[in-house]
Formats: sequence, structure tokens, C-alpha cells
Amino acid sequence: MNLIIQSPRALTGVITPPGDKSISHRAALIGALADGTTTINGFLAGADCLSTLACLRALGVDITGPDAGRVTVRGRGLNSLCEPETVLDAGNSGTTMRLLLGVLAGQPFYSVLSGDASLRRRPMGRVTGPLQAMGAKIWGRCDGELAPLSVRGGNLRPLEYTLPVASAQVKSALLLAGLFTPGETVITEPYPSRDHSERMLRAAGADLQVKGTRIRIRGRQLLNPLTINVPGDISAAAFFLVAGCLHPRADITLEGVNLNPTRTGIIDTLLAMEAQLEITPGEETGGEPAGRIRVSSSSLRGLEIGGSLIPRLIDEIPVLAVAAALAEGETSIRDAAELKVKESDRITLVAGELARMGADITPRSDGFLITGRSHLRGAVVDSHGDHRLAMALAVAGLVATGTTVIRGAECMAVSYPGFTADLARLGVIVQKDEG
Ligand code: S3P
Repeated sequence: MNLIIQSPRALTGVITPPGDKSISHRAALIGALADGTTTINGFLAGADCLSTLACLRALGVDITGPDAGRVTVRGRGLNSLCEPETVLDAGNSGTTMRLLLGVLAGQPFYSVLSGDASLRRRPMGRVTGPLQAMGAKIWGRCDGELAPLSVRGGNLRPLEYTLPVASAQVKSALLLAGLFTPGETVITEPYPSRDHSERMLRAAGADLQVKGTRIRIRGRQLLNPLTINVPGDISAAAFFLVAGCLHPRADITLEGVNLNPTRTGIIDTLLAMEAQLEITPGEETGGEPAGRIRVSSSSLRGLEIGGSLIPRLIDEIPVLAVAAALAEGETSIRDAAELKVKESDRITLVAGELARMGADITPRSDGFLITGRSHLRGAVVDSHGDHRLAMALAVAGLVATGTTVIRGAECMAVSYPGFTADLARLGVIVQKDEG
């Protein structure tokens, strides 16, 4: 599908972003291992989270929904999963594959996990290596680095492990595997990454302790079922935060957004770029801070980012690059080599596609150098099947002159099926064609 975008006269209105993707995955997985019925409200019905539900169903979990955002997971405890009859398909979802690997490592049966062409290119050795050290038998292409992966789990030993890169997916996989060991698993991260798994496991009654970047979990405990109201996804809200800053006549309110400090790097960065943001903290939702964000037209300044900020905004870097292209001065993004192994090589492709629209952006091995105040021009650009690249390009199209055509825009449904409907809600005339 091609998405055809022109800059609207104004960009105003109120949006409730969809449920958080990371939290939706975890709610389904942890619910499946709990003893009793977990109810999830505001579950993200994007393709990635639907892949998690499909895999869990194939493992014998009784799940209903999503029905108007509600999913019911009837968990029957840690040892209730059954050997799947066929290959588990994680689709485009790295979170599904990596977190599920942690669970499958604990199962005394054989399973095979695969996904789409993008996921089959993504590195899995960072998860399969430590899981093998815990005793799981895992085979895959390139010595266990690439899917399809087959797993014969069970009889896991606890592990003490320091992650070489900050990754919430790897951390979560090892914590989930830790549930199936007879002792204490200890994970240390180089920098804090999103901590939704830790929050949810604790809420379910797991014996889990966090000290700085060190997390301990004790295995073989009963998990209690939860009722989880998933807050809005800040990674989805980010597209409107940037669009609101860049458009000259913008005033957008985003309701019910997750404000977990391990995810709010985009807010801190935009504020440091002198964005006009008003944050109103609200009630905790699903064990996570949440609130309202109002954004209005801003005159942004470039800045340097890197280090511990990167894991707090890694998924927002494609759209942050759009902000930087229109900011005054230079923006330097370092320490983000992980972008190369996301749904696409986001360093090469973000730079290449934004350059087609007139951005002054130089890719680096671990980020970008972007010189601002470019005049963006509408162009024919391509998502390369990457949902966040598609939506970042749509934001660029909202502030470019002329018409922007985004090829392969259907992938937006991976994380934000309602993106074009929300654009329309703000007054954007959205056209689509079959391409
Ligand atoms: C996620 C963690 C991050 C992020 C991804 C979702 C999660 O990946 O980029 O979109 O839900 O745990 P890494 O763990 O590879 O950093």
C-alpha cells in the first residue's frame, strides 16, 4: 500500500495512542504462566502482539480476544504449556521471538520458532547463548544465531550473566527462563533498559529484586493472575510529539501515555531541544506511570545524544532524525549501533530515505550526524517493510512541501494499526492506493 501525505494547514486535536507494545506482549506471556485468569485491557492489536497470542495459543494456552482491546488469558501455571504441533511463527516481532525463547528454554519439549524475512536476519545468539549456558538445547542457522530456531528445553540451571548490550528483550528472556530454574538467576545490564517485565513479574508476586542495573529472580514460584490496563505507547505517541513540534500550526494532546522513566528518553531529548511540551502526570496504569502530553509548534535546536539515553529512546530515533533535520544546528547521535539490527538497518535506511526528501544526514557506524534547518521536499520514499521507518517518513511528509508517497506503508499495522485514522483525527487528509 502507498500512503500519500501532504502538509495540512494545521495539526490539532486529541489522540489516545494505542496500548504499549512491550507491555502487551509481556501481559500475554506472563498471564500464560500465571495460575488463573489474567485480564488485559487496552491490549495492542498490532500484528506483533497478535503473533505473541498466536504462539501462546499454539502452546495450548486458552486465550480470548482481542475484543475491543480486551484479552483474557486463562493461565494454568508454569508447567502447563504443551508441545506445539507446528512451527511457532513470530512474524516480524523480535520481542515475541526473544521472550518466547526464554519461556521455551524452560519447557521439557521440542519447539521450532521462526518469523518473516526481517526477523530471520536478526541476531538471536545474544539470547540463545545464555539460554544454552542455562542448559537449554537450541539449534539454529549460523550456529544458533539465526531463526528458524529449534529448542529442547527443560532442566535449566540458574545463571549469573552480564549483558554485553543493553537489551530489554534479552534481559526479559533470561528472567522468564529464570522462572524455570531451581535457584536464583542474576542479570546485570550495562545501562538500564525498559523494565516492564520486572514491574509485571513483581506485581504477579515473583520474588524479584532490582539493585541499580542488577536484577535477581528466584525460580519455581507461583505467579498470580493480574488485571492489566495497558497504558498508551510512548513509541507511538512519539510520531505526534515530533509532528507537533515541527508543524507551524500544531497543538496536539496525547492522553494516557506511558511515562515509565526507562521509556521517556524522547521527552527528555525533545525538551533539551527546546520543544514546547506540557506533561501532566496522571494515575498509574497497569503498574506503570502514565499521563497526558500536550505538544505545540516549537523551534527546535540540535544536540548531542548518546550513552545511557540511547536505550531509553532507541525506537524513537527514526522520528527523532526527522526532528533533527528541521532543528537549528547539528544533531549528533552516537552509541546506537543497535539500530542496524532492528526491523531493518535503521542507520542506512533512515539516512537514505530522509536524504531523498532533502535532509542533510550522514550515517555513522553507531548513529548519525544531522545538520538542521533543511527544507524537506515531498518525494517517493520506501518503508522497506519497517513500521517505524514508514511512520517517521509520514511525519516528514507532514512538514514537507509537495506530496510524499510512502511505499510499503501497510507495515505500520505492526505496531500502530490506527496510525492513519489518528492522522485524520488531527485534520490530515490521508490518501492510500494499492501501489
Ligand atoms: C523491546 C526492547 C527493545 C526495543 C523493541 C522492544 C521490548 O529491543 O527496541 O522494540 O519490548 O523488550 P532490544 O531489547 O533489542 O533493545
